[in-house]
Amino acid sequence: MAGDGTTQLIDEKGKRLDGRKLDELRPIEIKIGVLKNADGSAEIRMGKNIILAAVYGPRELHPKHRALPNRALIQCFYRMSTFSVNDRKSPAPSRREKEISMILSNALTSVILTEKYPRTTIDVYLQVLQADGGTRCAGLTAASVALADAGIPMKGLISSVAVGLANDKVVLDLFDIEDQKGSGDLPLGYSPILDEVSLIQLDGVFTLEQFEEALHLGIKGAKEIYEIQKLALKEKYSAIRNEVADEIKPSKKEVKEVPKEEVKEAPKKEVKEVPKEEVKEAPKKEVKEPPKEEVKEAPKKEVKEPPKEEVKEAPKVKEKEEKEDE
Ligand code: CDP
Repeated sequence: MAGDGTTQLIDEKGKRLDGRKLDELRPIEIKIGVLKNADGSAEIRMGKNIILAAVYGPRELHPKHRALPNRALIQCFYRMSTFSVNDRKSPAPSRREKEISMILSNALTSVILTEKYPRTTIDVYLQVLQADGGTRCAGLTAASVALADAGIPMKGLISSVAVGLANDKVVLDLFDIEDQKGSGDLPLGYSPILDEVSLIQLDGVFTLEQFEEALHLGIKGAKEIYEIQKLALKEKYSAIRNEVADEIKPSKKEVKEVPKEEVKEAPKKEVKEVPKEEVKEAPKKEVKEPPKEEVKEAPKKEVKEPPKEEVKEAPKVKEKEEKEDE
């Protein structure tokens, strides 16, 4: 919430209360894959802010009637721990938390390829462990890399930072006092690869020039954050690649040469020659030829020649009779 702008936030040398220049980010540290149970996770430290991001999904949505037929529903849950601020924060979800959850869900929806997972939900939990101004922006930056860690396809990462007015000067990355006492607060979510603004809010009063300057400064800051996000993702995946490479190729140290002395030839099995005497030729099996069946010649049937019919020659007619006939 922007203040009245009367508090001295910039000294004569042009330095801010924490010693930064007007266009300087707080130190940022991003770690990927910090939560074992989440599909993707990240921890961001931006100045004194400490925020955890956990991504679950795509998964089935309950109640089912809330599911969208053509795309995944992106649900972001921004929560502040009771111990994250000086005054104990009520554990019940506040209106502020609900509003931040909604605008972060919208910002993430604009870069996720939601149409790839119809009727599902992708849940992004942001837990603020320590707050020091600009937690929604730091949370969005962390959510973006946690989604990448979960393997959710995206058009690009979102890099987010707040720009504000401190003593009428445009300053980058507001911390808690600047956020409370400054006269303007402009949280910005920007995708450098798409050159698109996915989140913009404005609290306080900016002149047109101040707004344009704030927008340019915010984009410049987002581009710097983008480099840190990419580095964090690369670090994690190059570590995995090295691990895998180590598993495939055993290191030289592990390959110990066996000292020659130790190489004992396997004792040849003694082949005892069998004394010749003992070599008894296996008795040849008597091959008994099967007894030839006595082929008895079939007794020749006595072929009795049929008795020659006695051919009785016709009695010769006496020559005498012939002569008589004549
Ligand atoms: O954190 P962000 O700037 O995105 O949101 P804000 O509503 O502008 O809050 C600015 C800061 O106020 C937070 O970062 C906290 O440090 C502080 N705050 C608090 O002390 N107690 C709350 N219940 C909410 C915010």
